[in-house]
Amino acid sequence: MKKFIVIGNPIEHSLSPKIHNYWIKTNNIDAIYDKRKLEISELENLIKEVRQKQIDGINVTVPFKNSIIPFLDKLSNEADKTQSVNTVYLKDEMVIGHNTDIEGFELAIKHINYDVNRKKVLLLGAGGVSPSIIFALNNMNARKIIISNRTLSKAENLKKTFRKVEIVKWGSIPDFDMIINATSLGLQNEDNLGLDYSKIGSNKLFYDVIYNPSETNFLKSAKKISCKTENGLKMFIYQAQASFKIWNSLEPKIDNKVMELLD
Ligand code: ATR
Repeated sequence: MKKFIVIGNPIEHSLSPKIHNYWIKTNNIDAIYDKRKLEISELENLIKEVRQKQIDGINVTVPFKNSIIPFLDKLSNEADKTQSVNTVYLKDEMVIGHNTDIEGFELAIKHINYDVNRKKVLLLGAGGVSPSIIFALNNMNARKIIISNRTLSKAENLKKTFRKVEIVKWGSIPDFDMIINATSLGLQNEDNLGLDYSKIGSNKLFYDVIYNPSETNFLKSAKKISCKTENGLKMFIYQAQASFKIWNSLEPKIDNKVMELLD
């Protein structure tokens, strides 16, 4: 029986077991997908379990996407550039780290038929998920990516990797076509970014990486000014699908049942 796990801390909230076990069942695969709460000191032994073929695949979530890297043998180009790994597997006796968050974001944007080509994007946040989003936006040929983060130095660090990004002070809103909330503000219902959207105009896309709650105050504000909105649920589903495909060599279906499972 194949064994997969998602690791993180905390991990109780993770929806990955639900979606993966559903796909395991519907594709008649002899496997189980569990979750495991870990401490950073346990990462090294965990990767040994992959090397010894006791674990067939790992999804990595907060806060280990970066700290797992020293224990891996090889990174994909995406994982290397973003220094962020969410998918681990063994190939040719090497433990590989890959990043499917990038593909997840790209497919989510394609799914709503939004064309990022030549668009100006304002990215709020410079935490764990931001490099993946920048990588994806570059793939999709965004014209300009402007980062705004409460802690300026973290935005400046991102600029060392992604040299073309611009930085604005937290709280200032330059002109944009698409705005992305990649901060953790919104996870609590009452969270508010405290930004002034009154001069933004309609016809923009507001994208929130957060999917629970499904409508953050950020997205609520967007609706009030007649802007398009999208939450992070599709990104989550597509990154899971991409991991599943790597491990099991088949593309699981995203049907209504999958959507219901995550509701
Ligand atoms: P980490 O920063 O450890 O990578 P994360 O959850 O990946 O954690 O990222 C959290 C993001 O939300 C960061 O961009 C953070 O801004 P700072 O870099 O200034 O910490 C942002 N964030 C969290 N709480 C915030 C708040 N109250 N106001 C503004 N931004 C906030």
